[in-house]
Amino acid sequence: MVGFERETEMLIEQLVTGPWELDVISIFGMPGLGKTTLAKKLYDHEAICNRFDIRLWCCSSQSYDNRALLFQLLGHISELDSTKKMSNDELAEKLYESLKGKRYLLVVDDVWSSEAWDDIKRPFPDDDKGSRIILTTRLESIVTYAMISSSPHHLRLFTEEESWMLLKEKVFREGDCPQELEEIGMQIARKCGGLPLAIVLVAGLFAENDHREVGYWKEVGESLKSNMRGCTGIIESSYQHLPIQLQKCVLYFASFPKDQNVPVKKLMRLWIAENFVEASTGSNSLEMVAMDYLMNLIGSNLVMVGKTNFSGEPKAVHIHDLIHEFSLMKAKRGKFLLRIQNQL
Ligand SMILES: Nc1ncnc2c1ncn2[C@@H]1O[C@H](COP(=O)(O)OP(=O)(O)O)[C@@H](O)[C@H]1O
Ligand SMILES: [Mg+2]
Repeated sequence: MVGFERETEMLIEQLVTGPWELDVISIFGMPGLGKTTLAKKLYDHEAICNRFDIRLWCCSSQSYDNRALLFQLLGHISELDSTKKMSNDELAEKLYESLKGKRYLLVVDDVWSSEAWDDIKRPFPDDDKGSRIILTTRLESIVTYAMISSSPHHLRLFTEEESWMLLKEKVFREGDCPQELEEIGMQIARKCGGLPLAIVLVAGLFAENDHREVGYWKEVGESLKSNMRGCTGIIESSYQHLPIQLQKCVLYFASFPKDQNVPVKKLMRLWIAENFVEASTGSNSLEMVAMDYLMNLIGSNLVMVGKTNFSGEPKAVHIHDLIHEFSLMKAKRGKFLLRIQNQL
């Protein structure tokens, strides 16, 4: 992760010290700023793992489903088999009992409404053990509503230096940036308006090795409008750079609920069934071609890896909620997939 060192330090301090009563630490700001990334960093931080008896993570999202959320939460605590037939109240009760007397950390990622917040928070006891909830949202009204003692944290945009650092890291990984790309690279980073999501998407345009010449970088630089806050332009241009087959594969994500991790095997079977995957002229099977498509989309940073298997290959993937909105809008406009039409 690039940047936000001071923010991380300050938030850790708020999480491990302060009142014994339950407290809510809110991180808010526009989509693509890095709220989920920062919350994940805090959640996995050594000081946090040492401090709390139990850590739980749930993603609330727009299509909020209380039962699914209770299952997500209970999954951190017990085997789910015994809970399948329980009512929502029983599930909440079980959660409450498991957390009673413990010091827990809960992350609620992406809260959309105060009703959802009330529902989520209900089974969480306050036993004066120094438990904490981290809440992320794009809505300021939610943080005001949820505030207990700590003031909400409005996540800032990246500085130009941080933007350039992230772009370099994404494009060149461990390697150095060639001298001739420095100046144009910095200009491109500046045009991303300090939004990490915009930066990783632009980096995706340079993912392939033959995309490392000044001419191509200048072309991309010119195609970006100056200071594109909001990111739609950058998503559009990442999308336009893809071959048509891959564009279809991206739009297909709109048929899954927002923020849902999709198992890779299932996704590839569906792409093949929808005829998105073209048979290769060589001996590669359709599954292998589909895997190539997926790796290409991951390389372009349009698709993010949610889970990996033991050998580091992607096992479940998802797209950022802004890219989900974009795909839904495109799919709707292009009358792509009847199933998506029916969902709206
Ligand atoms: N500090 C960071 N360092 C590296 N990459 C980041 C950072 N913040 C965000 N990103 C990248 O930007 C994209 C959007 O970040 P995310 O945390 O999903 O934003 P938000 O939750 O605010 O919408 C992700 O692909 C993430 O990997
Ligand atoms: Mg997020």
